[in-house]
Amino acid sequence: MAKNGKVQLHPSKNPLSENIRGAMVELLQKHLASAIDLSYQCKQAHWNVKGMNFIAVHKLFDELHEQTEGYVDLIAERLTALGGQAHGTVQASNEGTLLTPYPLDLVHSEGHLKRLADSFSEMGGHVEKAVEESEEAGDPLTADLFTQIGRGLDESLYFLESHFQLPDVSGQTGR
Ligand SMILES: [Fe+2]
Repeated sequence: MAKNGKVQLHPSKNPLSENIRGAMVELLQKHLASAIDLSYQCKQAHWNVKGMNFIAVHKLFDELHEQTEGYVDLIAERLTALGGQAHGTVQASNEGTLLTPYPLDLVHSEGHLKRLADSFSEMGGHVEKAVEESEEAGDPLTADLFTQIGRGLDESLYFLESHFQLPDVSGQTGR
């Protein structure tokens, strides 16, 4: 493996320069860790949620887990396509995630919906920055991948927020 700063790269005929590939592998590695974290935050909610709307949110949280697992695979395989070595274990995710830890004691469906909305919003913010960073670095294809993931995260946030995004008595949107 060739050394590029801190990042080790496998030799590749990928047309991007080694410098760009190294920078993108580093960026993708952080997002791989965060996406694994987010996907298991959804399972944490899926397994522990309770409330009158149990079955709907239990199923929604599992769908969000599957969707975020799709992002895990997209990110990891872009990273390896650029010559990187994916750090895809749960232990590595714990070291590298950008997300705030999910509480282990949440039970009520409203609590899980609001807390997952926070996580999807947090991840969405990091992904938007990653779009800019990969565009500026000269890798429009990685920027496109992050754009795709960002759109999906926004949709999931909408599904979560729609449970509590009702106008309050004064007609303003309450949370
Ligand atoms: Fe299940």
